[in-house]
Amino acid sequence: MSGERVAEIKRVDTGVPGFDEIVGGGLPRPSAILLAGNPGTGKTTLAGQIAYHRATRHGERFFYMTLSEPADQIRLHFRLLGMDLHELEERKLATFQELMPFTASTEYVRTALENMIAKVESAKPDLLVVDSVSAMLQFLPPEQVRPLLSMIVRITHDVGMLTLLIAELPMLGPVRLSGVEEFIADGLIILRHEETREGLTTRINVVKLRLSRHSREHYGVAITDSGFIVLGPMRLE
Ligand SMILES: Nc1ncnc2c1ncn2[C@@H]1O[C@H](COP(=O)(O)OP(=O)(O)O)[C@@H](O)[C@H]1O
Ligand SMILES: [Mg+2]
Repeated sequence: MSGERVAEIKRVDTGVPGFDEIVGGGLPRPSAILLAGNPGTGKTTLAGQIAYHRATRHGERFFYMTLSEPADQIRLHFRLLGMDLHELEERKLATFQELMPFTASTEYVRTALENMIAKVESAKPDLLVVDSVSAMLQFLPPEQVRPLLSMIVRITHDVGMLTLLIAELPMLGPVRLSGVEEFIADGLIILRHEETREGLTTRINVVKLRLSRHSREHYGVAITDSGFIVLGPMRLE
């Protein structure tokens, strides 16, 4: 694709320090991007921070589907980082959809997720976070998760959303992704903890991002008092 054509793609700035530079000048929209990472690498922080930035700076609306921790815990996490999600909810810029179905039947979970997705389709938000695809796979067999993800990706493109699909990469044991998310997603960004002589550090790597001239290097990341930041390039030892 020529330079001009790449420049024509609509990109959204994320407001995350250092992040837009490594993805080629913001995230393309519409697109569904898989954000996969080890526990505690900042997936929830990164996704929520992008949503917060788009809402506060650009007046955009987001939906946040949470299946891995209660919405209240997410509200508290962001409040401690100086971001008031509750205020955005009052202004109808943010909507949480929580599903914590530890004792529910497969049938219940599938119907609840279908209803959530239908609400997203009719509300047509600018941004959607699914936190997480791994939790869906914990509650439903992969053959029931795949059509739900396909539906989300179709709606993403029909409505013109930026969708961030979060996936857990366990530190211990095998990855429990069904293997389809990577192929239906327009982008794949990975966050990993790395052992160094100084201790544990966290890095980010943009593996794939359609329509974007993105970096392929590894970058260090950190969560500070004001949220997620991308540091400089990081060599793997
Ligand atoms: N207020 C804070 N200041 C700095 N770092 C924090 C703060 N709160 C959480 N963290 C760090 O962020 C991590 C959790 O980030 P989170 O986005 O929930 O990760 P993930 O969703 O990938 O599991 C914690 O493990 C901790 O290291
Ligand atoms: Mg999380």
